[in-house]
Amino acid sequence: MLELSGISKTYAKSAVKAVDDLSITVKDGEIFGFLGPNGAGKTTTIKVLIGVLCADSGTARVDGIDIAADPLGAKRRIGYVTDNPELFARLKASEYLNFVGDIYGVDTATRQARVAEYASLFDIKDALGGSIGSFSHGMKQKLLVVASLLPDPQNWVLDEPMVGLDPRAAFALKETMRSRAAAGKTVFFSTHVMEVAEKLCDRLSIINKGRIVFTGTLEELKEMQGADGSLESLFLELVDEQAEAGA
Ligand SMILES: Nc1ncnc2c1ncn2[C@@H]1O[C@H](COP(=O)(O)OP(=O)(O)OP(=O)(O)O)[C@@H](O)[C@H]1O
Ligand SMILES: [Mg+2]
Repeated sequence: MLELSGISKTYAKSAVKAVDDLSITVKDGEIFGFLGPNGAGKTTTIKVLIGVLCADSGTARVDGIDIAADPLGAKRRIGYVTDNPELFARLKASEYLNFVGDIYGVDTATRQARVAEYASLFDIKDALGGSIGSFSHGMKQKLLVVASLLPDPQNWVLDEPMVGLDPRAAFALKETMRSRAAAGKTVFFSTHVMEVAEKLCDRLSIINKGRIVFTGTLEELKEMQGADGSLESLFLELVDEQAEAGA
């Protein structure tokens, strides 16, 4: 379970709050989508949630553990896929996976089994001996996804994970999200791909200019907007409304 409560964050030398009094709870067994325009505050929120950034106020809890009070205890329960797959270019992919396995304390046999499973699922098994610097963007992305699953985390947090993935890998990712949620784990991901959010999410939040403008199911969003359109049109309506209201 992931709980963000009253999170605010302003970057140094910035006049505006990147995230403003944001609260989201993602329950076990749930696939939760995080949507919003460029610069809305999605990555900032995610970085607070995973303990890379400190919030100015509010709390972030991972399975009840406050990440500010017990960062390692909380991080141990998270697998994270960054939006920027710039990894250690000189490491071989297999070395990187071992590094991640060491950090999370995954034993050798389990590590090997999970690498074999996920590297073949995401079709990078044959590339594991290569250095990361020689990888394409999509291959780095796949490696990050495999690495994030290595500890079999209770909470899987992904920042725009579909970017750069080929259709087969995107399909595998969606299936993995579904199977993890079905097993009672938490999946929280940001995306700009409306079709993915529409098909995949149990609930979603829409953020605009640092503030949550909607949290709920797609059906609730449709009711609220009094429309039966696609998520794309509902999203655009909601974000435009906020812009007009000067929010
Ligand atoms: N390192 C930083 N220093 C200063 N301001 C930042 C920094 N990172 C982000 N911001 C600002 O914080 C706000 C939120 O940015 P953030 O990256 O969280 O948005 P996002 O929703 O992830 O956008 P995108 O969809 O483009 O990834 C933006 O106004 C951005 O300019
Ligand atoms: Mg972002």
